[in-house]
Amino acid sequence: MVSRNIQDTPQNRSLAGEGVLVTGCSSGIGRATAIHLARQGFAVFATVRKQDDVEALQRLNEPNLVPTYPLDLAKPEHIPHVVEFVTQELRLRGKQGLYAIVNNAGGSFIAPVELTDLDKFRTELETRILGPMALLQALLPMIRQAQGRVAWIATPALIPVPYVSSIHACDFAVNCIVRTLRIELAPWGIPITLIRCGGIRTAATGENAPKPEVDLKKRWPAERFELYSQALAGQLRQFAEFDAKRTEPEEVAKVVYAALSARKPRQSYAVGHMARTAGVLELLPHSIADWIIARRSA
Ligand SMILES: NC(=O)c1ccc[n+]([C@@H]2O[C@H](COP(=O)([O-])OP(=O)(O)OC[C@H]3O[C@@H](n4cnc5c(N)ncnc54)[C@H](OP(=O)(O)O)[C@@H]3O)[C@@H](O)[C@H]2O)c1
Repeated sequence: MVSRNIQDTPQNRSLAGEGVLVTGCSSGIGRATAIHLARQGFAVFATVRKQDDVEALQRLNEPNLVPTYPLDLAKPEHIPHVVEFVTQELRLRGKQGLYAIVNNAGGSFIAPVELTDLDKFRTELETRILGPMALLQALLPMIRQAQGRVAWIATPALIPVPYVSSIHACDFAVNCIVRTLRIELAPWGIPITLIRCGGIRTAATGENAPKPEVDLKKRWPAERFELYSQALAGQLRQFAEFDAKRTEPEEVAKVVYAALSARKPRQSYAVGHMARTAGVLELLPHSIADWIIARRSA
């Protein structure tokens, strides 16, 4: 099936049928983005790590959506097989290279730094930093060939958010990698775009999100957990208020499409509840921004 909306884009070329790989498409932002991009006419390699999720994507009957399995970013041995699969599929479609990667996959958990499970944190480092870098290393020759681009789903701002440092610490690293790539890949004109998301309504948030009071209580001596129980309860109440105002993931999908189809994509796009406010906090001196954040979470 060909494009319904893709018209002419960068270099006056049609993007219909061009390949885009999106990671973490079992739910949330990744799933909404994969579906939206496929409906706009891209051939979307929607990566998942469970067979059930392949079947769920197949049941959507989207002709441009190609479930790509397995890709667990914490397992580098999965990457060569994904590259081989994408290469073959693009060849069958008569396409030269891969037009874009959308780095989206990531887990989440709530814990103060003192009680953070280092194995879980290590998995986040692999999922959010090392895995995407390995994937990028493997796919960049194909992106170069297609004169393509890279988009990275990120947090709204470089700020410390208490009890979710696993996400935000990784994001500082991702921001640094993105800025470095912009400089290093400039000779080939490969744009790298950050999609800075505020509160988005997904599986990682709301009622189904992991509950720290259950998880931490099981793992830590009661007296250690008690040190944080009041602060955590306050933070959870705040998260619950925040959850009620989250933006639907389809809004992120539209922004990703804009970034992939714009003649000249911006370096970053802000989308979702409080994304712009968080962006302002990032511009303040650290002492002031941290004071505001501490007061909000007290
Ligand atoms: N929701 C928000 O408010 C928000 C705000 C800012 C940024 N973000 C970022 O947006 C991205 C997507 O989050 P979401 O809110 O859409 O959450 P989500 O619905 O939980 O989706 C996360 C996706 O990442 C996949 N994933 C997790 N660990 C993986 C791994 N090791 N290898 C490969 N895939 C893995 C999950 O697959 P499984 O189903 O197999 O676990 C799932 O498909 C995350 O990077 C998140 O930090 C979200």
